[in-house]
Amino acid sequence: MTDREVIGPGGRVGILGGGQLGRMMAVAAAELGLSTVILCPDPASPAFAVAADKVVADYADETALAAFAEQVDVITYEFENIPAATVEFLAERRPVFPPAKPLSITQDRLIEKRMLTTHGIAVAPFAPVDSAEQLGDALARIGRPAILKARRFGYDGKGQAVIRGSIDPATAWQELGGVPAILEGYVAFHTEVSVIVARDRDGEVAAYAVTENRHENGVLAESTVPAAIPADLAEEATAVAADIAAVIGHVGVMAVEMFVVGEGGRALLVNEIAPRVHNSGHWTMDACVCSQFEQHIRAICGWPLGSTARHADATMVNLLGTAVEDWQRYAADPAARVHIYGKAEARPGRKMGHVTRLTPLQAAARPAGSADEYGQAELASDTAQAESEAEQAH
Ligand SMILES: Nc1ncnc2c1ncn2[C@@H]1O[C@H](COP(=O)(O)OP(=O)(O)O)[C@@H](O)[C@H]1O
Ligand SMILES: [Mg+2]
Repeated sequence: MTDREVIGPGGRVGILGGGQLGRMMAVAAAELGLSTVILCPDPASPAFAVAADKVVADYADETALAAFAEQVDVITYEFENIPAATVEFLAERRPVFPPAKPLSITQDRLIEKRMLTTHGIAVAPFAPVDSAEQLGDALARIGRPAILKARRFGYDGKGQAVIRGSIDPATAWQELGGVPAILEGYVAFHTEVSVIVARDRDGEVAAYAVTENRHENGVLAESTVPAAIPADLAEEATAVAADIAAVIGHVGVMAVEMFVVGEGGRALLVNEIAPRVHNSGHWTMDACVCSQFEQHIRAICGWPLGSTARHADATMVNLLGTAVEDWQRYAADPAARVHIYGKAEARPGRKMGHVTRLTPLQAAARPAGSADEYGQAELASDTAQAESEAEQAH
C-alpha cells in the first residue's frame, strides 16, 4: 500500500484516539462502506461502540501499534498530541495522514506561531518563555493582561493562565508548572471565528463557511454559521486557512481559529491551528452536503473531496457535563439534531454531546467558497513551494 493508492469501499481506516471525534469519523467512514479500527488506551472510549475493531493499548506500545497497522490500509488520528515516535513507527508500515510535518508544527504553540509569522500571517504578540526570569522580560515587552500558555498538550483552555494586575512572574510561572511556554498578548477581540478546511493528497483544497465561535472558560460553547462578519473578511479568513493547509503540507481536515480585531472588526489574527476535525465544524454534519468527518475520510483515502455547500444556517451548542440531561427537550425540537457521544460519566465541563439547530439559509449570506450549487468550493491551487514542502513531509 503506497500513499497514493485509493482506498475504496471495503477498505479499513485506523484511527488513533477513541473520543467523540474518532467516533464521528468512524460513523462517516461506515457510511462510505469503509470500516474502522480504533486504537486508544482508555477501555471506555466512546468510539469503540461504532468501530469494527478496537485495540486498547498505549500509544507507545510498539507490539500493539504493529498489530494495529497490520489490520488497516491507512491511519489517521483524532487529536494532535500523538507522540512523534508513534507516527514515525506507524508511517513505516502504513500511510499516515495528516503526515508528520503538520503534526509536529501544530503540536507546539511556539513552532506554530513562528511558522505563521514566517509566512506573513498576523498573530498576537508572543514570546517564548522557559523561566520565571524570561517571563518577567516578556511581560515587560508585551504588557498586561497577557496569557501564558504551555507550548504543548493544551486543549479547551487547559495549560493556560491569564496574567493580569500585579501577579508576579515567579508565581505565574510556578502555577503553570514551569513547563516550556509562550506568553501571548491578551487580544481584545470583537469575536472569534474559525475556518474548517480540507486538503486532499493532490493539494486540492475545499473550505466550509466561516463559523463564529463563543468560548466560555476556554471551552467552545456555541458555534454559529454564517459568521456575522463582512464578506471580504470571510474571504480573507478562508484564503488564510487554505494557505496554511498548503504551507504545512496538510492532508485531511483541519481548523484554523482566528480573532476578529481592529476598528469595526475588519482584521484577523490567527490564534491556533488544529490538524484534525474540529468541534467548531460539527454543524457541517447537519447543514452541509458532505460533513467535515466524511470530508476527512475522503481526503485521506484518496476520494474526490465532497461538496462543502451549506443547505441551512446553523447554531451548534455543546452539551457540557450535566447539560446532556436536557436531551429530551432538544429531541422535541423539530429544528434540532441531537448528537450524544455515549460517555458514561457526565463530569463537569466534559463534552457529552452537541445539538445543531438549523434555520433556513439566508441567501444574502452565501458563504465564501460555495459559489456553485452543490459544487465543490475550489479555493486555491497549490504553489510549487507548498507541494515540495508536502513532499518532504512524507
Ligand atoms: N491571546 C489571547 N487573547 C484573548 N483570548 C485568548 C487568547 N488566547 C486564547 N484566548 C481564549 O482562550 C480560548 C482557548 O485558547 P486557545 O489558544 O485556542 O487554546 P486551546 O483551544 O488549545 O485550549 C480561545 O478560543 C480564546 O477564547
Ligand atoms: Mg483553541
